[in-house]
Amino acid sequence: MDALRQKYIDAIANVADESALEDLRVAAVGKKGEVSLKMRELGKMTPEERQVAGPKLNALKDEINSAIAAKKAALADAALDERLRSEWLDVTLPARTRPRGTIHPVSQVTEEVSAIFADMGFKVAEGPQIENDWYNFDALNIPPHHPARQEFDTFYMNRAEGDDRPPHVLRTHTSPVQIRAMEKTGAPIRVIAPGRVYRSDYDQTHTPMFHQVEGMAIGKDISMANLKWVLEEFFAAFFEIDGIKTRFRASHFPFTEPSAEVDIQCSWVDGQLRIGEGDGWMEVLGSGMMHPKVLQAGGIDPDKWQGFAFGMGIDRIAMLKYGIPDLRAFFDSDLRWLRHYGFGALDMPTLHGGLSR
Ligand code: DAH
Repeated sequence: MDALRQKYIDAIANVADESALEDLRVAAVGKKGEVSLKMRELGKMTPEERQVAGPKLNALKDEINSAIAAKKAALADAALDERLRSEWLDVTLPARTRPRGTIHPVSQVTEEVSAIFADMGFKVAEGPQIENDWYNFDALNIPPHHPARQEFDTFYMNRAEGDDRPPHVLRTHTSPVQIRAMEKTGAPIRVIAPGRVYRSDYDQTHTPMFHQVEGMAIGKDISMANLKWVLEEFFAAFFEIDGIKTRFRASHFPFTEPSAEVDIQCSWVDGQLRIGEGDGWMEVLGSGMMHPKVLQAGGIDPDKWQGFAFGMGIDRIAMLKYGIPDLRAFFDSDLRWLRHYGFGALDMPTLHGGLSR
């Protein structure tokens, strides 16, 4: 019995994992284990022999069982220690930096403009950037030899040799979307059309691609007064200045009659432009009552309907609102510029949450 005891106590001490320990348990005290078989032999003994052997065997069984339980706990502790060692983590290390992009000021301002006009019942309309000359010019009352065609510095698309049709153009303004929107929905209608436009021009305030937003409202009795209210409402919301002053100057566009250019109040202090104060003026858009020929080109009867329209430079009002001095930098994709002037992805402009940071 002593040999049996020594065999299992040593084996248990040297076992390496839980499954080997379980094998040992079965071999020693399992149903057919060595100790169990010995216990069965008790029946064949004399009562005297049994009185000696019985308690010894029971004690051996208890000893083996507790040695196994102790070993099991020790193995579990060792496993936990090993896990703690291998999964150790230095929480004082500096965090990894992740690349983070920004929203371009043009995108941000487009969202701001859309939010303000949506609040006044304007939907967003779209048109192609490659236009035919009818939508870009003729339908807007700019016939082929009208001087306004030359003023636009138009980019013309190529035509195959011998193809005499007038070439397509990169749209020079968002005004052709007026025609497309009228064709699509008819009157009454209230839309804005933000988007890219192109002109062959390059200096501190001009790039060959830039952005405009067109506005148009057609109804039975839409007037110049409605235009003025809508624009004043817009500028107050956009620049976040209540009662910002505007100035309407008589002007001329082929697609409107009468026409007005609109300035907003501003001043220059130490070379810095301040919007909404002082006695200077800054031109921000062209507008007017839609010309009857333009309504007609869009399939709307000018004897029954009338409307206003306006066109505004998005990049320009972005420069004014956020104090960005050079337009050309907008399109250089310089990451330092984008980080400085860009917006966080969660700075979504809403009328109630505020339109700027
Ligand atoms: N399309 C004009 C431009 O690009 C801007 C403009 C002026 C749009 C008057 C209009 C308008 O809708 O009524 O210079």
